[in-house]
Amino acid sequence: MKPFAELLQQTDFSDADLLRLLKTSDPLECQALYAEAFKRTTQVHGNVIYFRGLIEISNICTYDCRYCGIRKGNLAARRYTLSIDEILEAARYALKAGYGSVALQSGERDDPKFIDFIEEVCAAIHDMSVREFGIAEGCGMTLSFGEQSLETYERWAAAAGNRNALRYLLRIETSNQKLFSHLHSGQGRAQKTYAARLQALSDLRSTGYQVGTGVMIGIPGQSEEDLVRDILTFKELDVDMLGMGPYLVSQGGAMVEEGMMHKDALLRLTRNMLSTTRLALPTVNIAATTALETLESGARTLGVLSGCNVMMPNVTPQRTRASYQLYDNKQGTESDPDSNVQLEAELIANTGRAIGRHLFGSSVHFRSRQKTKKTKAADARP
Ligand code: 5AD
Repeated sequence: MKPFAELLQQTDFSDADLLRLLKTSDPLECQALYAEAFKRTTQVHGNVIYFRGLIEISNICTYDCRYCGIRKGNLAARRYTLSIDEILEAARYALKAGYGSVALQSGERDDPKFIDFIEEVCAAIHDMSVREFGIAEGCGMTLSFGEQSLETYERWAAAAGNRNALRYLLRIETSNQKLFSHLHSGQGRAQKTYAARLQALSDLRSTGYQVGTGVMIGIPGQSEEDLVRDILTFKELDVDMLGMGPYLVSQGGAMVEEGMMHKDALLRLTRNMLSTTRLALPTVNIAATTALETLESGARTLGVLSGCNVMMPNVTPQRTRASYQLYDNKQGTESDPDSNVQLEAELIANTGRAIGRHLFGSSVHFRSRQKTKKTKAADARP
């Protein structure tokens, strides 16, 4: 068998190579893997972490994804929707802090009232970023509102204004189609298909969004081979961004009996997945997620040390934070408004990375695709 150190120097990896990287539990090999991923991230993306201010707009959801604490069938969840003013105030906090983008997320709805509301929200944030903050093109916007029609994607893109910093996150959750169906068969009926998910990602790309996807790591029934298949799928989809975090059990979900992985093994598998993905897809943006931070306090900076280059600090108003309970003990639900300042300090102290303030933070992957399309340099401000 090839020495592990030799494997780490490769730029092309076979399925067997990826599996070996992903599976290692040897502490020295793990450290070497994370260090190599961190180094390559620096080479491609520089020493900068991009920040997005995350605003959880509403926890009302029309689906019953079994893993998720805000699924429709969880009658214990207190439902809320922020007002436009609350959303603008949260966006203002992020822009004041110099985060070049906001990320807007909610439970999944596709009724006309919701579509109109999100359109209004996008336009209002864009307008504010131009008028109040003097960002000529408007701030970056990442939308995460599930599967929608092409027409809806287009309406929201137009409202968000800045097409050079327009992004959409839609995780595939797992590329194991049997597992995907199981996860999305709440209340005894299939509610989602993997094919529709792939179609949505393709529609988003053709509308002009920078496309992000991702998976949960350590889902009951998921194998390491599945995770390798996930990485290959990210490559096939030619995605610009990734968000991946550990699967955490949720009392509001429908998978409590299935349990979850042991914390130490899950932290290792998550870091292995982040680093292996970084080696396989050097130019994409990879986020260090709240789920990772929830697994272990401070682990978001471990994510950065494993190859992540994006963070999404929560800027949702205090009044509703605890209600966006995707999984148990979600980090940051009680933190005070200064917690993001603390996060920034921790990041700098623990990783040596700087915060990319006033940058849109599009991925190198997206920017090089734009260049090859010979359009105007997409993102003069990176
Ligand atoms: N554990 C980890 N991540 C979860 N998500 C939802 N429920 C859980 C859970 N129990 C993630 C999904 C979804 C994103 C919004 O949150 O991957 O895409």
